[in-house]
Amino acid sequence: DAAGKGGYDHYMLKEIHEQPPALRQAISGRINELATSVDLDVDLPEAYLQSVEEIQIIACGTSYHAGLYAAELLEEHADVRVSVEIASEYTFNGGRDPWRTLVLAITQSGETADTLSALREAKRSGARTLALTNTLGSTVTREADDTVFIRAGPEIGVAATKTFVSQVATVTLLTVYLGQVRDSISTENASELLSSVRDLPGAVQQVLDQEQAIKETAQAYADSDSFFYIGRDAGHPVALESALKLKEISYDHAEGFPAGELKHGPLALVTPNTPVIALLTEQTRPEKTLNNVKEVKSRGAPVIGVSSDPATTSHVDTTFDIPQCGPMEPVVANVALQLFAYYIANEKDRSIDKPRNLAKSVTVE
Ligand code: G6P
Repeated sequence: DAAGKGGYDHYMLKEIHEQPPALRQAISGRINELATSVDLDVDLPEAYLQSVEEIQIIACGTSYHAGLYAAELLEEHADVRVSVEIASEYTFNGGRDPWRTLVLAITQSGETADTLSALREAKRSGARTLALTNTLGSTVTREADDTVFIRAGPEIGVAATKTFVSQVATVTLLTVYLGQVRDSISTENASELLSSVRDLPGAVQQVLDQEQAIKETAQAYADSDSFFYIGRDAGHPVALESALKLKEISYDHAEGFPAGELKHGPLALVTPNTPVIALLTEQTRPEKTLNNVKEVKSRGAPVIGVSSDPATTSHVDTTFDIPQCGPMEPVVANVALQLFAYYIANEKDRSIDKPRNLAKSVTVE
């Protein structure tokens, strides 16, 4: 067991640190030399991919958050309508043309019962299906029409970490691929996305190098009642995912919100004992989120900003610095917040790799 953890106290911490190599594996051989095109080995016919009018993403838990992130990218660059549904809530909308619908099942394990059941419903309705998974030979790979692997390597910690960032990196490649097949992405946007993906391993490493500072902040906030995470655009799924991470392993109450939604309810819960974590990365409209930061600060809440822009630091109490890396910045911010969650849970001596009541793969509906 100790050997399996490679010298780390928990698998989760080991897996957080494995993210740079996991990301390198996810992108290896898939981006051409000039970072202008992608080879993902997708077998679905190009003519079909060109005719798709809607992508329905189905997933649970962390994979659902990767799906929300994917939707931001696909809608912008692949000129397609995207819906993201919690798999257990999915029903194929009868008004849709199954021939023009692609159902994308995102599942790390490839075995989640709710996701498999939604996939089967989509197939029965006549839609084509694509799986995004980490697990070779898993049920989803046998049942979906085609599969793209995220190649993160085995993940033992119940709380997903490296598989989330690998899912996001891989759906970014998928976005560029679909954008090019559908002739909807500019060369400039494709190369911006692909360079950002290529920069991911290094950017994540720079965040990991700040572990000690993040640990000290986590220890300082470990006694708080409740934590709120806010973000816009791709910062929103990252807020949801970061809150889920903290909830899963620390058993603290944590919620993620679209930053603008805070004032429509959650603000009533904000006090000096509820830290607010604000995603202020590039391309997530940080200037607007700073207005929400002001709202919570005036109620006495301490604010942690996650940002690559030094101009935001004076608006918050603590900053987790993210290196500038374009459209992938929010997922890099997520890595800082994985460490934050880990060190809060560690401070409380929780069962980090096997949180109470949770399982790595849930095979019942
Ligand atoms: C369980 C795990 C989560 C995971 C979710 C979906 O709840 O504890 O970490 O995100 O299942 O799993 P999947 O394998 O489908 O991505």
